Amino acid sequence: MYILGMESSCDETSAAVVEMEEGIRKIRSNIVASQIDVHRLYGGVVPEIASRAHIEAISRITYEALETAGITVDQLGAVAVTAFPGLIGALLIGVNFAKSMAYSRGIPLVAVNHIHGHVAAAYLSHPNLKPPFLALVVSGGHTSIYRVESETEFVEIGATRDDAAGEAFDKVGRVIGLPYPGGAALDQLAYEGDPKAIVLPSPALAGDTLDFSFSGIKTATLNYLNSMEQKGMPVNRADVAAAYTDRIVKAITQKAGQALEQSGMKTLVLAGGVAANSHLRASLEQLCRTRGVCLAMPERVLCGDNGAMIAAAGYFQYRIGHFADTALNASASDDGI
Ligand code: KG4
Ligand code: ZN
Repeated sequence: MYILGMESSCDETSAAVVEMEEGIRKIRSNIVASQIDVHRLYGGVVPEIASRAHIEAISRITYEALETAGITVDQLGAVAVTAFPGLIGALLIGVNFAKSMAYSRGIPLVAVNHIHGHVAAAYLSHPNLKPPFLALVVSGGHTSIYRVESETEFVEIGATRDDAAGEAFDKVGRVIGLPYPGGAALDQLAYEGDPKAIVLPSPALAGDTLDFSFSGIKTATLNYLNSMEQKGMPVNRADVAAAYTDRIVKAITQKAGQALEQSGMKTLVLAGGVAANSHLRASLEQLCRTRGVCLAMPERVLCGDNGAMIAAAGYFQYRIGHFADTALNASASDDGI
């Protein structure tokens, strides 16, 4: 069946057509209209501007997704839309558009949890992937570890207690003068620096807990940069990028290792925007190789927010008959609608 996936939770408007059945996972189109250039002027996402930009783009990219896929609206078996979590105004644009389209054409509508969407991207890149597995979701808004019992059942077993890893990358990226969002630029810059040049705390909380805290490393880095400035000493930005990335990647790898040990799971999925980080991918590859664990990561283009991952997650909601209707609302919260 063909599923239209719609995503508008933050600063990307996306529509995609995915073909999914038992054993079939094909991305027919995946159109992403990024608003990064607009938000870059402000150094972060401005919610009201995001909502307006979604309104401007959503109709155009939806028809582009259908056209690229070579299908008509009437061939769609379902419309899947991100309903939570995210920026409420931004989410409402996608939800209302999807509701109108589904209602006016009599197409089943399914609501998708954005986080489940990120994990579902792994099914598109790894067609044989099947739960149960552990999923590590690392994005601009989340850093969590889940026990995924089935395609639609998630149990959170670890999470950040404050900032998300992506947010922490973006903040330090901005302070050292990298363009917003700093994550991808910091990833590259880290290759040119010495990770041991600066002493920074680990974001992995001590003990058996699978939780993280990124506020300490963020503050320590900002304090280091301020003190260098006060002393009139030059800052080696590449060393900052290398040390910061090293500590974050080691912390995530450490907690992934503990989670694998505690759960006995033999498959790990890495998902979310930060899953595109080359250092994190290499570190988890190494961890999984030494432990004989299968690592499933979406291709990099499927790590950031996109409609294809929402369509994939929507397919599993459809399969269990979990439909939404015109009463569907959006929610900013992780707990849902
Ligand atoms: O999943 P995503 O597209 O949006 C949210 O749901 O939050 O993630 C966006 C985040 C941003 O913080 C961005 O800087 C980060 O993913 N990111 C990266 C890389 N590419 C994107 N962080 C580190 N290394 C990268 N290569
Ligand atoms: Zn996301």
